[in-house]
Amino acid sequence: MSEKTRAEQLAIFGGTPAFSEADSLHVGRPNVGDTKRLLDRIAGAIEQRRLTNDGPFVRELERRLTEILDVPYCVAVGSGTLGLQVAARSLGLQGEVIVPSLTFVATAHALEWMGIRPVFGDVDPDSLGLDPRAAMKLVTARTSAILGVHLWGRPCRVEELQSVAADRGLRLLLDAAHAFACTRGAVPIARFGDATVFSFHATKIVNAFEGGAIATRDAELAARARLVRNFGFAGYDEVVCLGINGKMSEASAAMALTSLESLDEFLAANRRNYDVYREALAGLPGVGLLAPGTGDGWNHHYVALEIDPPVAGLDRDHVLSVLWAERIFARRYFHPGCHRMEPYASREPDAGRRLPVTERVLARVLLLPTGTAVRSRDAAAVAAIVRTAVVHASAVRTRLAAARSDAAPETPAPPST
Ligand SMILES: Cc1ncc(COP(=O)(O)O)c(C=O)c1O
Repeated sequence: MSEKTRAEQLAIFGGTPAFSEADSLHVGRPNVGDTKRLLDRIAGAIEQRRLTNDGPFVRELERRLTEILDVPYCVAVGSGTLGLQVAARSLGLQGEVIVPSLTFVATAHALEWMGIRPVFGDVDPDSLGLDPRAAMKLVTARTSAILGVHLWGRPCRVEELQSVAADRGLRLLLDAAHAFACTRGAVPIARFGDATVFSFHATKIVNAFEGGAIATRDAELAARARLVRNFGFAGYDEVVCLGINGKMSEASAAMALTSLESLDEFLAANRRNYDVYREALAGLPGVGLLAPGTGDGWNHHYVALEIDPPVAGLDRDHVLSVLWAERIFARRYFHPGCHRMEPYASREPDAGRRLPVTERVLARVLLLPTGTAVRSRDAAAVAAIVRTAVVHASAVRTRLAAARSDAAPETPAPPST
């Protein structure tokens, strides 16, 4: 595949799409480690008839996680969403919790599902995490916690959120679904707040098919989370609190353990793709790649392209249309923002007015495919298409205006995660 450098080569002008259907590029194609080891593990679990209920793989995974994350306690759960809920219940959260709207909707839904109201605060333009000053202003008598999100693996301003929480007697919970293997400065990401929740969904850098974990330095909280994760059972017949089925299965733990064994390879592939994108897009006016703050350690798992329309001559949705025509399914994460999704949009239809930074980011950012399913030459091809589109911005705009209705492009079938 030669890189596209001329406008007429672009699929929107009738050129052949850069990728066939079978080779199409997606955001979040799963990383898969050593399949044989995975299957051996699962076969062993079946042989032993140990399929779930705090089995040996779950325990081994929790042990590995405490080492890797550098926290004393990790509680494996069935998903990141359940992790947020089990942590929230274990921390006694209720009333209102302050969260960013610039996140996957699970962050808000996890709370709402439990009868806790997510109150959306704006993000700061550098970290793209909850702005501590905005959070402070939203505290009311009903607030029980702040829930910060390390969006796309970029640490939020945890130290300041921690002091707001301490000042106001609130809990601090952190959603690190994107931030496995990331650090804040030199400090491992899970060493902040009351608890940090990871997702091991198939799209994440480390995956368990579906899964998650709660990491904490608080022994009592970890013990409580273990009860809540298992219906509140403290013994065979003794239920001591309201719990849920939040457990991780042995098959999922086997997948996570296998995935962890290849973590270095996954990190290297992400780093390589990011470097290809960065070098190939360098100097292109109005187009930049987001990176975390200097000194923060990053997993490079989410490559976020930011388009400045007046400078690039194209807006984010133009670039999206150009890429989708090439079968490069870049994604508008997390468009249109939780505050514009139900049930939150009906509750506060004008929330966007008090979330200007969130709105700006949501309108300008596009996530590009990466991970082990994307080769460096694929990333180079994607970057060349973005460059060619921007260089021929005016022709691209005219072509898309003629071709497209106002509707957003149709969503393709999600990748087979
Ligand atoms: C920021 C964020 N929080 C929470 C979740 C929920 O995790 P899970 O899908 O494992 O339930 C996700 C999942 O993709 C996420 O991106």
